[in-house]
Amino acid sequence: MKPKDSKTYPISITVNNVVYAIDVSANETLFEVLKDRLNFTSVKRGCDSGECGTCTVILERKAVYSCLLLAVEVDGKKILTLEGLSSNGELHLLQRAFLEHGAIQCGFCTPGMIMSAKAFLDENPNPTLDDIKDAMQGNLCRCTGYVKILEAVRSVAPRD
Ligand code: FES
Ligand code: FES
Repeated sequence: MKPKDSKTYPISITVNNVVYAIDVSANETLFEVLKDRLNFTSVKRGCDSGECGTCTVILERKAVYSCLLLAVEVDGKKILTLEGLSSNGELHLLQRAFLEHGAIQCGFCTPGMIMSAKAFLDENPNPTLDDIKDAMQGNLCRCTGYVKILEAVRSVAPRD
């Protein structure tokens, strides 16, 4: 892990509808804040370099790699992690679809997959299978292969 700059900057971010005011160093990433400081365990450290998608969260309405963003860049912004998807103890449609389609093995990639799928489907409620493949190509899975994952996403947006 890289050494932190000693100078800190106050930021305020809203994660899953809760406001957090914290001091961050200039080189601290959004991933480090979410995972290491705020303990959102769904946000996974994979490559730490924008290759695998395991750290994907939704920033405003867009799926982003949290390992590539500095925390100071997201001051004042709204972030959604997998923890914010379920409501009243009920799994989100996509979470249920991944379970029902056997799209999870170790589960390491799953939160990032689901956050990418959610951001995509929110903007494209009637995608083709090719659209879904394009949207999910930034998320890698080392276990299941991709057929079941694509089936799960497609089941929530069943066109084509
Ligand atoms: S950990 Fe961020 S893209 Fe791999
Ligand atoms: S289920 Fe293990 S990495 Fe995707």
